Amino acid sequence: MIVIEKENAADAAAIESLLNIGFGEDRLSKTVYKLRQGPSVPSLSLVARTGFDAKLGASIRFWRCDVENGDEILPALVLGPLVVDPALQGKGLGRTLVARALEEADQEGWELCLVVGEASYYSPYGFVLAEPYGFELPGPVDQPRFQVRAAPDLLRSLTEEPMARKVLPWSGTASGVEESGDASCAA
Ligand SMILES: CC(C)(COP(=O)(O)OP(=O)(O)OC[C@H]1O[C@@H](n2cnc3c(N)ncnc32)[C@H](O)[C@@H]1OP(=O)(O)O)[C@@H](O)C(=O)NCCC(=O)NCCS
Repeated sequence: MIVIEKENAADAAAIESLLNIGFGEDRLSKTVYKLRQGPSVPSLSLVARTGFDAKLGASIRFWRCDVENGDEILPALVLGPLVVDPALQGKGLGRTLVARALEEADQEGWELCLVVGEASYYSPYGFVLAEPYGFELPGPVDQPRFQVRAAPDLLRSLTEEPMARKVLPWSGTASGVEESGDASCAA
């Protein structure tokens, strides 16, 4: 039995342990972590629990960020980290979490989401390479892994108005999208 639900505060240690296994303890030095400051977005931070003991088997988190777009700031999400217990990989848990969380993000009205990950894994969800649209992370990134998913009208306008678009940690002031969740998840 697999249950997908929102992360709660008691999951923090188990998630940390999965992340250490999946990405190593030096993961915090990656550029994308500069965008993961403060709490993740509670309504989009999901876990998968498996078995009769409902053991935590997978986690996905999102952070808010700001994208400079000329004079305006676009509210955006950064997907990840996504991690699945090695013993449970290849059973669809990762894809289920991505699909479920993006569906929720769409319902909340998020129009822009970034990810640094394998293109073959994320392209089925509408992610395309970010570099051609001018997106720039605050540090080095492997460009073929840097992808963006945008609502069709937004993607069109990004194409029509080529410019450098810096991705910055969420300022907390840009108008964004209201979250439906109420609990705060530890980073
Ligand atoms: C990558 C990861 C999240 C996938 O989760 P999962 O539950 O095993 O994956 P699913 O069972 O949902 O999906 C399996 C599919 O993903 C593909 N896949 C698995 N790991 C992959 C990887 N690292 N890169 C690209 N594709 C991958 C499989 O080939 C399979 O493809 P298919 O659907 O075309 O057959 C998991 O392997 C993991 O936690 N890895 C360590 C941490 C990590 O690399 N996270 C991803 C960050 S982008």
